[in-house]
Amino acid sequence: MTSASKIKSIGGEQELVAPLHYGVTNSGRSSLRWALASLDLSGKTVLLPDFLCEIITDVLQEQQIKTITYAVDKDFSFSLSKEMIEASDAIYLIRYFGMNTTALCQAINDAQKPLIIDDVFGIEPPVIETQQPWCYFNSLRKISPIADYSQLISNQPLVSIQPALLPEFSQVKYQAESLKTDSLLHGRGEEKAYLTLFNQGESLLNKTKAICLPSAKSSVLANEFYRQASQECERRLQNLATAKVILPVELYADAPIEFPSFLPIFLPQRDKVRCGLMANQIFLAVHWPEVEGVPNSLSDSILSLPLDSCYSSEDIAFVCHKILELMDDA
Ligand SMILES: Cc1ncc(COP(=O)(O)O)c(C=O)c1O
Repeated sequence: MTSASKIKSIGGEQELVAPLHYGVTNSGRSSLRWALASLDLSGKTVLLPDFLCEIITDVLQEQQIKTITYAVDKDFSFSLSKEMIEASDAIYLIRYFGMNTTALCQAINDAQKPLIIDDVFGIEPPVIETQQPWCYFNSLRKISPIADYSQLISNQPLVSIQPALLPEFSQVKYQAESLKTDSLLHGRGEEKAYLTLFNQGESLLNKTKAICLPSAKSSVLANEFYRQASQECERRLQNLATAKVILPVELYADAPIEFPSFLPIFLPQRDKVRCGLMANQIFLAVHWPEVEGVPNSLSDSILSLPLDSCYSSEDIAFVCHKILELMDDA
């Protein structure tokens, strides 16, 4: 028997099933500001990992948020005591280097307080099944040539904001990227010119406390980036596999990962190895130096190996062998 109510409606406006709430901004910090406002955390207390980027503490201070720090180990594991959780209004979780560590998944599943999930090097949220309020954000500007783009996703409605615009930031960044291409690929111009512009861009971003929208160019490029994410991911996974074959297992952190951007390597003589790499035109970043007043057990030895598809497996192998060579000399 066919009842009218069972006939599928075809045509008309499209229906939508999207239970989550979405925002886009120019940076991780803009999304974090929006998340803090949406979770109503101003002046409250947040549980914060001791291994983190300084921008986070700066943004929390802007909102007079008090913090209780929890220790993060070398494998990015951590535990949160009952007392700590009770004393806090929310828990800040970093998805370190995009990894789905057991500790992260457990902290999400067992959440007894609202969560901020910071996936600065990732592209999409992990599985989040908690009923607690949560806000997730990423920052594509950290893992791609896109100058200014971050997604904010939440299971709660985001508060309405008056977003600002910071067009100079993306203009300067794109100009710097183009000068860098000219210099590296065509031998035109000076390294100093693009480095100055990159720094100028970062200081423009550092100066603003607003929640800013991404530029139109970055919004279009972000669509392109997501359209090609599976190919990009495949090449990054190949680069990761190459690094893992060459580096001894005790040198790097390992956990399931969907979209790798960097492999965190731990080197007792990190600074010496880093200098040796620089002498070979290899510039690896330290994510993240210790934040003043927040000691941790990772900042002194960590070094990030980039896995972006602009590097071939041969490039990755070269860097890994160089690291091992420099470790022997150190
Ligand atoms: C862990 C972490 N969270 C948030 C941010 C802020 O991201 P953005 O620099 O895009 O504002 C950073 C920046 O490096 C970061 O490393």
